[in-house]
Amino acid sequence: MKGQKCRLSPTALTIFILGLICILSVSPANTAVALADSGGSLSTYIIHVQKPMDKHFATSEDLDTFYRSFLPTTVTSSSQEQRMVHSYRHVLSGFAAKLTAEEAKAIRKKDGVLHVRLEEVLSLHTTHTPDFLGLHQGIGLWKDSNFGKGVIIGVLDTGIFPQHRSFSDEGLPPPPAKWKGRCVFNGTSCNNKLIGARSFISGGTSLPFDDTGHGTHTSSTAAGAFVRDASALGNAKGTATGMAPLAHLAIYQVCGFLWCLDGDILAGFDAAIEDGIDVLSLSAGGESKPFFADVIAMAAFAATKRGIFVSCSAGNEGPSDYSMSNEAPWVLTVGASTIDRSIKAMARLGNGKEFDGETLYQPHDFHPVLLPLVYPRLNGDNSSAFCLPESLHNRSDYQGKVVVCYAVGGTRVSKGQEVKDAGGAAMILVNGPMEGATTFAEKHVLPAVHLRYDVWREIQNYLSTASAPKATILFRGTRIGKSDAPTVASFSSRGPNKQSRGILKPDIIGPGVNILAAWPYTLDNSTDKKHSFNVISGTSMACPHLSGVAALLKSVHPDWSPAAIKSALITTATTSNMEGQPILDQSLNPANIFTTGAGHVNPAKAVDPGLIYDIEPKDYIPYLCGLNYNDSAIKLIVKEVVTCSSIRSIPDYQLNYPSISLRFKGSVMKVSVTRTVRNVGPAKSSYRVVIDPITCLDSIGVYPSKLEFTKANQTASFRVDFTRNATAAPPLAQGAITWVSAKHSVRTPVAVVFE
Ligand SMILES: *[C@@H]1O[C@H](CO)[C@@H](O)[C@H](O)[C@H]1NC(C)=O
Ligand SMILES: *[C@@H]1O[C@H](CO)[C@@H](O)[C@H](O)[C@H]1NC(C)=O
Ligand SMILES: *[C@@H]1O[C@H](CO)[C@@H](O)[C@H](O)[C@H]1NC(C)=O
Ligand SMILES: *[C@@H]1O[C@H](CO)[C@@H](O)[C@H](O)[C@H]1NC(C)=O
Ligand SMILES: *[C@@H]1O[C@H](CO)[C@@H](O)[C@H](O)[C@H]1NC(C)=O
Ligand SMILES: *[C@@H]1O[C@H](CO)[C@@H](O)[C@H](O)[C@H]1NC(C)=O
Ligand SMILES: *[C@@H]1O[C@H](CO)[C@@H](O)[C@H](O)[C@H]1NC(C)=O
Repeated sequence: MKGQKCRLSPTALTIFILGLICILSVSPANTAVALADSGGSLSTYIIHVQKPMDKHFATSEDLDTFYRSFLPTTVTSSSQEQRMVHSYRHVLSGFAAKLTAEEAKAIRKKDGVLHVRLEEVLSLHTTHTPDFLGLHQGIGLWKDSNFGKGVIIGVLDTGIFPQHRSFSDEGLPPPPAKWKGRCVFNGTSCNNKLIGARSFISGGTSLPFDDTGHGTHTSSTAAGAFVRDASALGNAKGTATGMAPLAHLAIYQVCGFLWCLDGDILAGFDAAIEDGIDVLSLSAGGESKPFFADVIAMAAFAATKRGIFVSCSAGNEGPSDYSMSNEAPWVLTVGASTIDRSIKAMARLGNGKEFDGETLYQPHDFHPVLLPLVYPRLNGDNSSAFCLPESLHNRSDYQGKVVVCYAVGGTRVSKGQEVKDAGGAAMILVNGPMEGATTFAEKHVLPAVHLRYDVWREIQNYLSTASAPKATILFRGTRIGKSDAPTVASFSSRGPNKQSRGILKPDIIGPGVNILAAWPYTLDNSTDKKHSFNVISGTSMACPHLSGVAALLKSVHPDWSPAAIKSALITTATTSNMEGQPILDQSLNPANIFTTGAGHVNPAKAVDPGLIYDIEPKDYIPYLCGLNYNDSAIKLIVKEVVTCSSIRSIPDYQLNYPSISLRFKGSVMKVSVTRTVRNVGPAKSSYRVVIDPITCLDSIGVYPSKLEFTKANQTASFRVDFTRNATAAPPLAQGAITWVSAKHSVRTPVAVVFE
């Protein structure tokens, strides 16, 4: 673990996508100012109210009437309609309304009003991936789960391009009877695949068409149908499919081009809960906040209570420590890693050295002859090395040359545009130390290749020693079989968990770099938008992979709780790469546990985990009391009256989570943790414990060290005593406790922080 500095996303809520759009950089404070503006103008406020104990709201109309009673009396009944933005049923008791600052102030003083605040802005953070994840036609999990048939995945995102072939309903039955949602597209756009589609963007379009591509990409990754001959600019060819190709999709448009408003996210969750979805996928998040102030945590709790599995992206704020979004224990938090496919190009230097890199744009008419190589630096000022817009002034310096640009700051495609505008023939993009080995296959505007950081020194050496440096680019197309996959992407957000140290985050990593999936626009000049795909990267892309896999598990095990599904994913995750070596991070060193969580998702194993750590919604109450939240803060999350003084609270590390995260503070020498597992394997099973040692712990004692089961669903508890070594205290250590039977290996990752 490097420095303890935390780097926060400047925005409150972001879509976690890279390479296409840069993340909005408006601070929440600025946003609030912009929205609130001057005295008389209207802004959207979220108003929490106390529901009267003695009143039961039979219909949503009754609830609306009750909420409207809080609006200022000066608002006429005809304009009430325009003032009400959302009225919430499940995620919180309250509503969103357009008010002036004066009106908001007045409402705050009314009886029964708990809290009034301005709406905030949050930001939006595959052909080959099923194969890479071991999902194959006719065998294994795809066969056992019937490709997720009958499961409903709700995607909260930027909407959808409904005509895309990935959303064809061939082979799908009608939605299950419990489905109560609706699809507002007309004609044949809605079908048995796309069973729901609505927009919750206040004041926006009423049809949830996807203008950015983000929602179309994530939806098709989770549950896209099989589409043959998919490719992007001719690369990554194959049959495209989502993780759960026969699951139904319900689309909740809650995000605009770059951002999402938290009131709209709440409304999307509210509708998804009401509609009867099984899995909710959200590739967006805000900065780390206590769970009672984090709309996603609050809404996700309501969903979890209804048995909905919630999968969220971890954020793109890596590689800094403490950079996570979505840290609540009731959501699955997904980091991003590479797959074994590359869309390859190579930089060849005049000295014959060649370096592998990537680009989606693979021109066939570029002749790989050596051209002059230039690294832009003006009078010792190397700021032009970043190739930012308007930075390459003297055209004659670049005309017909290969230009080396630092891949940091600004979008990489715009750097290529600058080189092209300056007359450059090609571009070699080189990463900085932070980006390390994470390279992107992007649609550059000129011949280009994106290289890893570790080759930079060799290129610099060559530039400074060769009398007339030269280089060219060789395009190699799509290659499968990068044996160091998966490696964690540089951008993938890292723990530790700022809100709850006793809960390890991220939970898991999944494919999120150079992922091919459906896209609403064509990348070339073809008009066949229905068959268009794009390759993009982000933890936004990793999250829907896990949402789809969760749908497969739900299909095989309809009675499993969200916590049971999460446990299965975590205890079966893989910690080694395709070479059998520990998973690496962008620095090409072994990735630590705050980078990978439990490791890389392994769907084939997750379906049959042997034992599960289960958590019921009520178990979170002693946990929340243990976080020292007060009763009213907890009520905001759990939506029921809680009196912490009358129950036994637990420290966060004692929640029955499938991983263990410990903190040794000051003179504490020993920490004991208890866990309870349930037998979901063979009725008669016998497990023994295997401990991966943890540096600087003198002992790890597991009691009992054997677990015997004679029945299905039987539970067993065990205690683990961790005793530290008084003389040694690194900042971080990690290991695992694994229960091993003849058939199963149930791995509980352990993270230890010494403070
Ligand atoms: C569906 O809606 C679109 C745009 O909203 C409209 O242009 C089209 O005519 C409608 N089609 C049908 C069949 O109603
Ligand atoms: C720019 O120059 C400074 C100082 O000479 C150096 O530390 C830095 O690494 C350079 N940056 C790039 C992108 O070359
Ligand atoms: C532009 O670069 C050329 C060749 O490097 C040089 O001769 C010329 O003086 C430069 N012009 C300016 C305005 O810097
Ligand atoms: C698309 O068409 C334009 C104009 O005809 C052409 O300049 C461009 O190269 C074409 N792009 C591709 C990817 O074929
Ligand atoms: C409960 O905690 C919240 C958040 O810290 C705080 O705003 C509120 O004033 C507290 N309420 C009481 C009754 O202490
Ligand atoms: C504790 O750590 C020290 C220093 O690393 C080591 O010499 C010693 O053997 C350790 N003690 C035990 C019991 O492992
Ligand atoms: C195990 O428990 C689940 C519900 O939690 C139930 O559906 C299932 O039938 C039980 N299995 C056995 C063998 O008792």
